[in-house]
Amino acid sequence: MSELFRIENLHARPVSDDLAAPEILRGIALTVQAGEVHAIMGPNGSGKSTLASTLLASPEYEVTEGSIYFQGDNVTDWPTDVRAKAGMFLAFQYPQEIAGVSVIQFLRQALSARKGIDLSVLELRLATMDWMKRLGMDSSFVDRYLNEGFSGGEKKRNEVMQMAILEPEIAILDETDSGLDIDALRTVAKGIREIRADRPQMGVVLITHYQRLLDEVQPDHVHILVDGRIVASGGMELAAQLEASGYEAFR
Ligand SMILES: Nc1ncnc2c1ncn2[C@@H]1O[C@H](COP(=O)(O)OP(=O)(O)O)[C@@H](O)[C@H]1O
Ligand SMILES: [Mg+2]
Repeated sequence: MSELFRIENLHARPVSDDLAAPEILRGIALTVQAGEVHAIMGPNGSGKSTLASTLLASPEYEVTEGSIYFQGDNVTDWPTDVRAKAGMFLAFQYPQEIAGVSVIQFLRQALSARKGIDLSVLELRLATMDWMKRLGMDSSFVDRYLNEGFSGGEKKRNEVMQMAILEPEIAILDETDSGLDIDALRTVAKGIREIRADRPQMGVVLITHYQRLLDEVQPDHVHILVDGRIVASGGMELAAQLEASGYEAFR
């Protein structure tokens, strides 16, 4: 096994003038080996989105202690675009909506930034056709404008398509949207399965509060995040325990 991604004693807080602003992440440790899928679950307010934003290098948060390693490099100070180019996929770094840019145009730019590969729209169309078939998407999907009027499920298809085409080494997915229906969750799960079938070394960190998603994805490791700390780690039996007794037992 080879180590892909490691978080060591990560502390982070919102960037603010208030020097006493409290830390939201309070010492997170996590190691992802190549090919592993890790799920991080936690109740509302536990720091899930803050963790995702910090892994994305969002300027909204500052790391106050600890480090993030990716493929042996300390990336703690790397900006978002450098992380992405190195092979970290952070779904929500991608714009919610850009007026006048279609899914395929956006993919083309993102692929050029990630891999320095400049495909023509036609070449990219061919590359996406196979994926659309595998993911059960209508072939007109890539000609839609980015997220414009997308349903929750379509937003997820868009993310999964980006993940498929950009071929990341690690995908960090934050399933924040409340109100994702089971079809949207299945799209994410199917996308992860199909991409891993081609690229079994890809690691996945799936941050979510949807237990149903774990049933669909069957992660190798499950971690429970409470008050900015991982308070329990295990396998799918942890998810079952959560289902039965909720987060109270972990507080
Ligand atoms: N930019 C911010 N400024 C102040 N407080 C924040 C900020 N971001 C998050 N928080 C607080 O940090 C806690 C964790 O938030 P969040 O990471 O969004 O949790 P989750 O995604 O698990 O629901 C919450 O109490 C939230 O109010
Ligand atoms: Mg959140």
